[in-house]
Amino acid sequence: MRRKLAAGNWKMNGTGEALTALEAIAGAHPAATVDLLICPPATLLYRAAQAVSGSRVRIGGQDCHAANAGAHTGDISASMLADAGASAVILGHSERRADHGETDAQVCDKARAALDAGLIAIICIGETLAQREAGQTLDVVCAQLAGSVPDGIDGSRVVIAYEPVWAIGTGLVPTLEQIAEVHDTLRQQLIGRFGSETAEAIRLLYGGSVKPGNAAEIFAVSNVDGALVGGASLTAADFSPIVTALEQAAG
Ligand code: 13P
Repeated sequence: MRRKLAAGNWKMNGTGEALTALEAIAGAHPAATVDLLICPPATLLYRAAQAVSGSRVRIGGQDCHAANAGAHTGDISASMLADAGASAVILGHSERRADHGETDAQVCDKARAALDAGLIAIICIGETLAQREAGQTLDVVCAQLAGSVPDGIDGSRVVIAYEPVWAIGTGLVPTLEQIAEVHDTLRQQLIGRFGSETAEAIRLLYGGSVKPGNAAEIFAVSNVDGALVGGASLTAADFSPIVTALEQAAG
């Protein structure tokens, strides 16, 4: 059985005082029955990992370089994230695809590097509003999935986050039927490529305006194994009810 995962993406938010929120999240779930992950900005990684040490919360990065080391000013390698205390990394987020022109092939190389460094790779995919309105959603996400996930994976170390670009930070959420259609399609694609044993171990997260008020219904959708939460992961007041909803969905 896949273990459910509640992951928070803090994006470019948080300086030292944000560690208080992290400690509050960890303190609210001392015996969490789902996996908990917070991905703070890189500057906070080490302190965040120290702050949650001994708790159920794990810490992740928001990007890594595909190379292990070298002349890449400003970049951070997967092994550096691991050294700072990360156990996972978000890759190919739509904001990185848009702001930095990241391609599926680059995301795939980064995922390989992350897995080689012992990290869990959280690979993000999702369609734009124009693509959804043009009826291209399944084609787009299947192409991103095919291009962004490396071969020869251990399914338990790979997480796919379906994040419709138009649902991120907007308060808009697809219908439950739309989420189910995408997640069921992704599972079938993964089974076709990797076989059922590997594919059934891969967790599929939904992301995009997940809030305390809509989490429970989203977590009841087939093939939704958790959430990648942006804004609502910044405070325990918002993130904690989402964690509780996921625990209830896990039964
Ligand atoms: P919001 O939850 O703020 O919509 O962000 C989602 C997201 O991009 C998580 O990676």
